[in-house]
Amino acid sequence: MVGSADNDMEMTREEFMMIRDFIHERSGIYFGENKEYLVRNRLSKRMADLGIKTVRDYFYHVKYDVSLKEFNRLMTLVTTNETSFFRNEPQLHCFSEEVLPALIEKKLQSPASRHVKIWSAGCSTGEEPYTLAMIMLERLKSYPGFTVEIIANDISEAVLRKARQGEYAGMTLRNVRPEFLNRYFTKLGDSYRVKPEVKALVKFSHMNLNEPRKSYVISAADAIFCRNVMIYFSDGVRKQLVRGFYNALNPGGYFFIGHSETLHGISKAFKLVYLKNALVYQKEVAGVAGQPRKTTPPQEILACASGGAQRALDLLSKIKPVTART
Ligand SMILES: C[S@@+](CC[C@H](N)C(=O)[O-])C[C@H]1O[C@@H](n2cnc3c(N)ncnc32)[C@H](O)[C@@H]1O
Repeated sequence: MVGSADNDMEMTREEFMMIRDFIHERSGIYFGENKEYLVRNRLSKRMADLGIKTVRDYFYHVKYDVSLKEFNRLMTLVTTNETSFFRNEPQLHCFSEEVLPALIEKKLQSPASRHVKIWSAGCSTGEEPYTLAMIMLERLKSYPGFTVEIIANDISEAVLRKARQGEYAGMTLRNVRPEFLNRYFTKLGDSYRVKPEVKALVKFSHMNLNEPRKSYVISAADAIFCRNVMIYFSDGVRKQLVRGFYNALNPGGYFFIGHSETLHGISKAFKLVYLKNALVYQKEVAGVAGQPRKTTPPQEILACASGGAQRALDLLSKIKPVTART
């Protein structure tokens, strides 16, 4: 039984398992035994607002709400939405200076394809897709005639509301260069609003990545960003999701994950490409899902990649860079 002086809500171990397994089954988010307090704290206020006394009653309330309204509320409570503009700069620099030029070059070879499609999966309050939109606007200045589509989705309705609003202040803007602030934001007192030309590139929608029927509708993406999202999922969910991402990518498309994440033990379908600024996963041009990578990276890099991309990056800075094959 878990309870505390400042909050009299109690939760038995059985109730914790009930709600924890329900959240996992529906959303993919997995809370280990050590997260019992966190679950309890996040539920307590909502239960008090609803006048529900036990977690068991709340479980039935959310489980049998066919409108999914309470499930959506629950997702807003249990998700971690930390994000910021230009998060993981070396990776974004790599996208802007190495990946995008390679993608554009490839598209220039076929007059029919002048469209770049990016998917920001688990976009939180919008900083990631808006950052990508600004990068695209900069890069595509010298390539008139290209169109851009950034699909951005999240399971939390609350973060999507904020994302659509596009108004930001404080720490989230700390990595935005002054010229970007001037060019792509309008200042409103202490906050900054994303300009319409940036907003126009991003389509926000609600999506549960653990519902394959919905996420499978996205196809022909040139790059997918799913950063700092799968860390909350169990391995089984990660494996299924990464298979879906693989299928959603164009041949030669790129897959970006968070700097502390790895596909080691999750998928062998992607090729790990060593670029100057970051490690990037790429779908083989003529690849088949489930087949092992064909390139053989140095063993010490592989060992590092399984233990954390940052350590691998440190090592990479000491070796000669290899350009992306597209
Ligand atoms: C820590 S944020 C990462 C935001 C951004 N990608 C970044 O790296 O800055 C994780 C986001 O994943 C979302 N998320 C968690 N489970 C999800 C699911 N099953 N489907 C869609 N989004 C999910 C959360 O709501 C949260 O906004």
